[in-house]
Amino acid sequence: MTISRIVTAETLDTLSEMDPDAQRARRDLRRVHRVMCTRSILCRAFKELVASHQLARPLKILELGAGDGTLMLGVAQVLKPPWLDVELTLLDRQSLIKTETIAKFADIGWKAGPHVTDALDWASTDDLILNDAKAKWDLIVVNLFLHHFEGVELASLLQAISMRTNLLFACEPKRAWIPLLGSHLIGAIGANKVTREDAVLSVRAGFRGAELSALWPSNFVEWRLKEYSTNLFSHCFSAERLKAINAN
Ligand SMILES: C[S@@+](CC[C@H](N)C(=O)[O-])C[C@H]1O[C@@H](n2cnc3c(N)ncnc32)[C@H](O)[C@@H]1O
Repeated sequence: MTISRIVTAETLDTLSEMDPDAQRARRDLRRVHRVMCTRSILCRAFKELVASHQLARPLKILELGAGDGTLMLGVAQVLKPPWLDVELTLLDRQSLIKTETIAKFADIGWKAGPHVTDALDWASTDDLILNDAKAKWDLIVVNLFLHHFEGVELASLLQAISMRTNLLFACEPKRAWIPLLGSHLIGAIGANKVTREDAVLSVRAGFRGAELSALWPSNFVEWRLKEYSTNLFSHCFSAERLKAINAN
């Protein structure tokens, strides 16, 4: 029996940056990533996606719903050279990126900066929408982000992403029984109440099968789509524009 997709507002999204429960929940997220092996999933996907395209440098990467940026910092620290000369924009509607985090990116040759805005506003900003002749980003990455959305909002995000990038990689919760069981047991890693509740909601709002591929807008461009489950808890989706456009 499959689990129906239900999208419910998560508690973390309703708390301010300074709320102690929110701060603790964001620290929990780092432990959750260790259990989910998120960093290695992202590193593997980045290497595969970027290696198969001849992209000019600097490589322009955007993360939507980037949180405090530490997940991507961990990815950058593993990739290191030859992944130099990267310009990374960390977009989130909350201001969560510490200056130390930006400095650590700089140590490994990544020029990182925050962009505090709502991703739905980003998606609907016409002046950023570029046509097929010029993509703005080489790679857009989302992690535990798309599952917050459904219907028109999800469609508008995917539309904006497809108009502005050569490559997308998404890593989302897998909507299945084992992840759901795992989400109920997340207290075992010391997660607080916010994380315990949000973990269950995230799995119920997660993805399975080819759900994201079915929603991907082609915009008359040829894309290579891959959608797969990996490890116990993650559901991944990648989209590659087959004729990459220089983002610079
Ligand atoms: C579960 S956290 C994931 C953070 C990070 N990607 C990670 O995996 O560690 C989801 C993030 O999406 C952000 N977010 C949720 N809705 C958003 C929106 N409409 N626009 C921008 N950011 C949003 C939240 O502030 C939060 O930082």
